[in-house]
Amino acid sequence: MGIVNQENISDVVIDSLGKNGVITDRQREIMTSLIKHMHGFIKDVKLQHSEFLEACNYLVRAGKLSNDNRQEFILLADIIGVEVLVDMMTNPVEGTASESTVLGPFYRENPPVLPKGGSTIQKHFDNEETAYFEGYIRDETGKGIAGVTLDVWEDAPNGIYENLDPDQPEYNLRGRFETDENGHYAFVAVRPVPYPIPEDETAGELLRFMGHHPNRPGHMHFIISKDGYRPLISQIYDADSKWLEDDSVFAVKESLIGKFKPAPKELGTDLHFEFDFVLKTAADAKAVAAE
Ligand code: BEZ
Ligand code: FE
Repeated sequence: MGIVNQENISDVVIDSLGKNGVITDRQREIMTSLIKHMHGFIKDVKLQHSEFLEACNYLVRAGKLSNDNRQEFILLADIIGVEVLVDMMTNPVEGTASESTVLGPFYRENPPVLPKGGSTIQKHFDNEETAYFEGYIRDETGKGIAGVTLDVWEDAPNGIYENLDPDQPEYNLRGRFETDENGHYAFVAVRPVPYPIPEDETAGELLRFMGHHPNRPGHMHFIISKDGYRPLISQIYDADSKWLEDDSVFAVKESLIGKFKPAPKELGTDLHFEFDFVLKTAADAKAVAAE
């Protein structure tokens, strides 16, 4: 493979790629860049061996914390802006299509299927503000798309997601809705409040190492999907929320910010939030991926 010194180490490792086995062009591209950047980083900060060992132990601890309910590596990636960057590389902003953002660790599959206009609220809180969410899901020509599935989820007015709070009913503030023949969706939920991402253990250590707080602005999560269209994983943000410009996971996009307004009486909620989404067709999505 080669005798190394401080000058040639990166080239020696890169030249070794694929020497004893077949690797794809993509594997070569990824490993070449990873080695260049990793070696560059180590030289930049003159990483010491004690720090290297500390980092290895840190990753071991993060691995031990990870399970079906807690994906510590996604959380760590979120804190340094990696998940949002990967999402922006995967789903570049194009034309009129809505922007995506991070999924986060709190999605649950198979939420309750509810009728259009139904409520996700199963438990009431003294400080809650109820809200009627509605809008259209359109294609890029502006036509409403019928039969689109929307999974929605949010934290409760105490700042905790249902699955982390033993005092909330299962699937509280989660639901699955469908657009009508005009592409219109509607549901009742609560105004989402800011909350801290998990800040114990390794995620908390990283936040403190970076001198960051753990808070996220109030947001509602969406997964919007229909055959023939590219699934959209996104969030909408409350324009009046704290932490909008200081999100601990860097996931806020200007185009995803909307305004809660007082609701007209006939809606029966405190607030009204209108937001439209535009989906890319699956064919468009494939063309982008192939570029
Ligand atoms: C969330 O929005 O639920 C979230 C996103 C990234 C990290 C932690 C939580
Ligand atoms: Fe969230």
